Amino acid sequence: MCGIIAITTSSKTNVSKMITDSLKKLEYRGYDSVGVATINNGKIEILKDIGMIDKVNKRLSLENLRGTIGIGHTRWATHGAINQENAHPHSDCKGNIIVVHNGIIENYLDLKKTLKEKGHFFSSETDSEVIAHLMEEELKQDNPNSSKINAFKRVINKIEGTYAITLIHSKDPETIFLARKDSPLVIGVREDTKFAASDIPAFLEYTKQVIVLKNGEIATLTPQAVYIEKNGFRVQPKPVIISWTAESAQKSGYPHFMLKEIHEQPIALKNTLNIDPRVIEKASNKILEAERIIFLACGTSYHAGLSGYHQFQRILKKRPLYKVIASEYETYSHLIDEDTLIIAVSQSGETLDVMKGLGAARKTRASIISVANVIDSSIPRLSQIALYTKAGPEIGVAATKTHTAQVALLARLALQIEHDVGLLNTTEFNENLGTLVTEAPQITRTIINQNEFKAKELAAKISNQNHAYFLARGYNLPIALEGALKLKEISYIHAEAFPAGESKHGPIAIVEPDFPVVIISPNDWTAKKMLSSTEEMRARGAYIISVTEEGHNIIERSDYPFILPTSLSLLRPITHILPLQMLAYYAAVKRGFDPDKPKNLAKTVTVE
Ligand code: AGP
Repeated sequence: MCGIIAITTSSKTNVSKMITDSLKKLEYRGYDSVGVATINNGKIEILKDIGMIDKVNKRLSLENLRGTIGIGHTRWATHGAINQENAHPHSDCKGNIIVVHNGIIENYLDLKKTLKEKGHFFSSETDSEVIAHLMEEELKQDNPNSSKINAFKRVINKIEGTYAITLIHSKDPETIFLARKDSPLVIGVREDTKFAASDIPAFLEYTKQVIVLKNGEIATLTPQAVYIEKNGFRVQPKPVIISWTAESAQKSGYPHFMLKEIHEQPIALKNTLNIDPRVIEKASNKILEAERIIFLACGTSYHAGLSGYHQFQRILKKRPLYKVIASEYETYSHLIDEDTLIIAVSQSGETLDVMKGLGAARKTRASIISVANVIDSSIPRLSQIALYTKAGPEIGVAATKTHTAQVALLARLALQIEHDVGLLNTTEFNENLGTLVTEAPQITRTIINQNEFKAKELAAKISNQNHAYFLARGYNLPIALEGALKLKEISYIHAEAFPAGESKHGPIAIVEPDFPVVIISPNDWTAKKMLSSTEEMRARGAYIISVTEEGHNIIERSDYPFILPTSLSLLRPITHILPLQMLAYYAAVKRGFDPDKPKNLAKTVTVE
């Protein structure tokens, strides 16, 4: 949550234009307010206000600030109302020190009290502002000419909580100071320019050489150099070259990132399923060694984990398997010990709830396998085995291509386990693998193309509704849960998913004529029972939308059926979610909302 960018360059360019462009690429992380600060001729220039970047830029000309060093921030409010004062950057009393922060400073009230007693004047209600004042206070102890890094290190030692911090000082006009704990911060390296940002797409246009700052590391950037240290010892930076292209982080002619990302699913699946078989075999061995397995994730990634859970259950039968929403991990802590394996699923690899759960699991020496999209992010680094989805950068807040890529990767893993436990011989395994790898991208493309217009038409029909139900049974429930989450998070239609049989225990009470009910019903063992649930809903006048397959009786009992080809059961959590992603997208657009930036949400959730 919150997007940070900092740039220092020895070229004669003003960095504010680059900072503003980079902030646009980080806007998915929060968009309550935005601000930019630069150092120009030894003086800080700062502009900030509430609202989205384009509007604030139009009003204040953020991109016209002068100076070859600067920092920027796009905010998702945690401490303090959404107003101009609380917008970042924040400064010390004299306006020499400027800071942007992502995370939460847990001891800020105590620090603020002490600083106020020492005469500091605060301009905002944020926790972040204490960092600038602490730096000011620490520098009072040092010779004005001595290096500011020591004061910065003392500041970092005093704060508790989670943070990605970038700080600049008007008297040190080439240096950016960085610190990170539990909130992401990556460094971009170009010969004459250095970048620090919350996420790689922010500077992808300028460089593909990336250094991921690790927890507890403190760094300084100057146009020519990157210096990193941890616990007082120098760390040799290891840049990696990112394969993502600058275009992959742009809309490329689509009206929104979400629609582009929906259409990118065939290629995301193809790339993801092209994973090195040795990594999958290693993961399968680890899974088979474990006494119990816990899927740990949040939101859409949790739904992918649920699909994995059902696949694994079918194969591993009596092996204890659990599915845990990461923010609830404490409730399951009694299950976690050295014989436990956690499978953590996270697109960003930075979700704090998941990281907290993994932190606790590591203390018990539990094993960890992760499924993540962002290379070298925190969650893969906390794991013994990191499996990567190759979906490319996902900018829309609502996860689409990374979700189906996660499901595909877990399905690939399930197939390997099925082979390794002897349920599939090598010929059967190779046949199924071939089908998965070739069919997944193809069928996905076909379904998207055949159903996009229908999804748009249906969205227009239901866009004036306030509620919708999504029903499924058994292993199809994750599809209903994900369909409902997509619809509610971007169109703000209240959407609820539950096992179909539960409706008569309460939810059916509010069904009335035209109430949209989405029925997920492939040609499988759930078909008959889903038909009964459909009839119950129809009897109350519900408007039945079904996601079903050719030949299913439900088609004629539906007001609006999406009729998909009957596919491999492994593929259903991928294929059957596609019409619902498009329905959510077009419903949001029809209702006049920006699907890429739903209110109150951020792409990467780095607060508990
Ligand atoms: C997805 O549409 C949501 N915005 C959200 O639920 C997301 O899946 C969740 O925050 C988990 O994020 P992660 O995959 O980066 O861990």
